[in-house]
Amino acid sequence: AAMAAERALAMATCTAPVNIAVIKYWGKRDTDLILPINSSLSVTLHQDQLKTTTTAAASRDFTEDRLWLNGKEADVGHPRVQACLREVRRLARKRRGGGEDAAALSLSYKIHIASENNFPTAAGLASSAAGYACLVSALARLYGLEEELSEVARRGSGSACRSMFGGFVQWQRGERPDGTDSLALQVAPETHWPELRVLVLVVSGEKKPVGSTAGMQTSVETSPLLKHRAEVVVPERLAQMMQHIRDRDFEGFGQLAMRDSNQFHATCLDTFPPIFYLTDVSRHIIALAHRYNAHHGHTKVAYSFDAGPNAVIFALADTVAEFVEVVKRSFPPATNGDQFVRGLPVGSAALSPELAAAVLTEPVPGAVQYILHTKPGPGPQLVDDPSQHLLGPDGLPRSRA
Ligand code: DP6
Repeated sequence: AAMAAERALAMATCTAPVNIAVIKYWGKRDTDLILPINSSLSVTLHQDQLKTTTTAAASRDFTEDRLWLNGKEADVGHPRVQACLREVRRLARKRRGGGEDAAALSLSYKIHIASENNFPTAAGLASSAAGYACLVSALARLYGLEEELSEVARRGSGSACRSMFGGFVQWQRGERPDGTDSLALQVAPETHWPELRVLVLVVSGEKKPVGSTAGMQTSVETSPLLKHRAEVVVPERLAQMMQHIRDRDFEGFGQLAMRDSNQFHATCLDTFPPIFYLTDVSRHIIALAHRYNAHHGHTKVAYSFDAGPNAVIFALADTVAEFVEVVKRSFPPATNGDQFVRGLPVGSAALSPELAAAVLTEPVPGAVQYILHTKPGPGPQLVDDPSQHLLGPDGLPRSRA
C-alpha cells in the first residue's frame, strides 16, 4: 500500500494564443453555459508576439485553491474559473472510471494557478480568450486529459474556445441545449496561408467601455439588427468566409472581415442604450484603410475591431512595409519613436507622391501608441522546460526578474 502513494506535487505549464474574429461572436442564447446565437470564425495570432502562460499545480500540502494573475493574487472563486475547474475535474474523474490509478494525481488535492501575459493587459488586447484557453490547457495537462477541450474553454469565455486551435478556427454554435455540440473546429492550420500578416494598432489611452459580456446581453435584449444578423447574415457569411480562406482569396477575405466588423459595431449602435466601442481614432483608421485600398484599386488591407478602439489590420506580407509607413505618417509617434513598430521585422518603404497625396491627411500625433506586427500561429503549447514554471517548488509564484 505504501508503494501506491500518490504523487505529492504535480505541475504543468502551457501557453495559449489570442484570436481575432473575422465573423464576430456577439450574443448568447444561454448565459450560464455560454452558448452563442451565431457561429463565428477567427484567426489565431502567433504566440511569439501575444500569449498567455499558465502554470497549474496540485499538491497534498495545499490548503486551498489559489490563483495569481500577472503576479497578483486574484479571486479563484470567480464563477467562470470555477466552471472550468469543475469541468476539467469531472472529465478526469470520468476518465478514471472510478478505479484508483496509483500514478494518477489525486482529484481531492487543492490547486494553485499562476497566469501571465507577455503583453500589457492595459493595452486592451483581448486577454480573456488566451487566458481561459491557457487555464484549461494547463489543467488538462495536470490531470492527464487528452481529449479536445474547446467545450470547457468556452465556459470561461466564449471566444476562448477558438484559442484552443491554431490557424483558422470556427466556433460552431451548436443546437443542443446542453452545449455539447457548441465547440471549436480548425478550418485550416496556420501554415495554410503563409503570406497573411496582422498589424495590431494599439490606440492611445481610452477609458474601458462596457465589457463584452454585459454589452452583448443588452444587444440580445434590444437589437432587432442583431437578431437579423444571427439568423440571416452570419450563416451566409460563414460559408463565404470559409471559401475565401480555402482559396486564400485576400480580396474576398478582407472585404468580408471589414463588413462583419462594421455590422458588429452597427448592432452596438442598434442596442438600447447604445454602446460605442469605436473612437475617433478608430474611425480615422477605417477611413485611412479605405483611401489606401481605393488608391490601389483593390483590397490590400482590411480592418477589424472588437469591443474596444484598437484596430487589427490584415494584409499580405508584401503590403506591410508600405502600410506601416502610411500609419507612421498619419499618426506620428509622440515619444519612443524607436519602439513604435514591435514584433516581426518591418522593412522600410518610401511612399510615392501620388500615394501620399491620395491617402494622407492632416497627421494626428500620438493617436496610435504602437504597432504590433504578427501573423497567424499555432494553438496552445506545452512548456517542457521546468525552469519556465510560474510557480516554484513551494507552489507559490516565483519572484519575477
Ligand atoms: C467582440 O468572448 O469576451 O471579441 O463569452 O461573455 O466572455 P464572453 O465574451 P467574449 O466576447 C468576444 C466578443 C468579440 C467578438 C469575438 O471575439 O468573436
